[in-house]
Amino acid sequence: MVIVGDDPASRVYVNNKKKACEAVGFYSEEYALPASATQEELLDLVNTLNSKADINGILVQLPLPKHLDDKAVIAAINPQKDVDAFHAVNVGKIMLCEYDFLPCTPAGVMEMLHSYDIPVEGKECVVIGRSNIVGKPMGMLLLHENGTVTICHSRTKNLAEVCRRADILVAAVGIPKFVKADMVKDGAVVIDVGMDRDENGKLCGDVDFESVKDKCSFITPVPGGVGPMTIATLMKNTLKACKLQNNIND
Ligand code: GUN
Repeated sequence: MVIVGDDPASRVYVNNKKKACEAVGFYSEEYALPASATQEELLDLVNTLNSKADINGILVQLPLPKHLDDKAVIAAINPQKDVDAFHAVNVGKIMLCEYDFLPCTPAGVMEMLHSYDIPVEGKECVVIGRSNIVGKPMGMLLLHENGTVTICHSRTKNLAEVCRRADILVAAVGIPKFVKADMVKDGAVVIDVGMDRDENGKLCGDVDFESVKDKCSFITPVPGGVGPMTIATLMKNTLKACKLQNNIND
């Protein structure tokens, strides 16, 4: 795990990932670089980790400080060690449905849908947010399972109306309590990927849980919903990476 700077949310995420490694018995190393780190220092570190045989997975926590080029850093990670599935090779493989790793948050959401026996096939799936980390791959995974997918973003017209069509609504917009009850169809499945702070500094999601919870059939809480699934998928990807690099098939 590589963390650059002192973003408090990133620190919490990295600590949770470290704890998960301990819980499942994975050896892990943390590299905490100062916010003043240069692009060259970060790329050197990634290259060192690429060549370390005892490291099977590399995760550079995002966002990086503004002066650093995250695209170049992701491109420098050996795709076989890219346990976030952010590298262009892995993104392309997902598009083609021939992947080794799935991005952690969208895959965690799919796992949750599977384990609650929530079918995706033929359902209207609306994703709010088009980030490379969540929105775009989330849409792709729902599409792979034959959902009818709409990805909404800041320029979407009639957003509330589009959201009200959703049988499965995924909020990944990064705005606290953005999704209100009038944007949700009765009985919808509501997945909240947000990790925000409300007006009192309290952790909350992108969905106004209190107003939405009585309208939907399923809703994920924040914290304690999608977040732990993301970390579980990261562990799964790391195990897969270790097997790939050591030619272990099972
Ligand atoms: N920042 C927010 N989510 C993630 C994630 O899943 N992986 C990394 N590397 N950075 C993130």
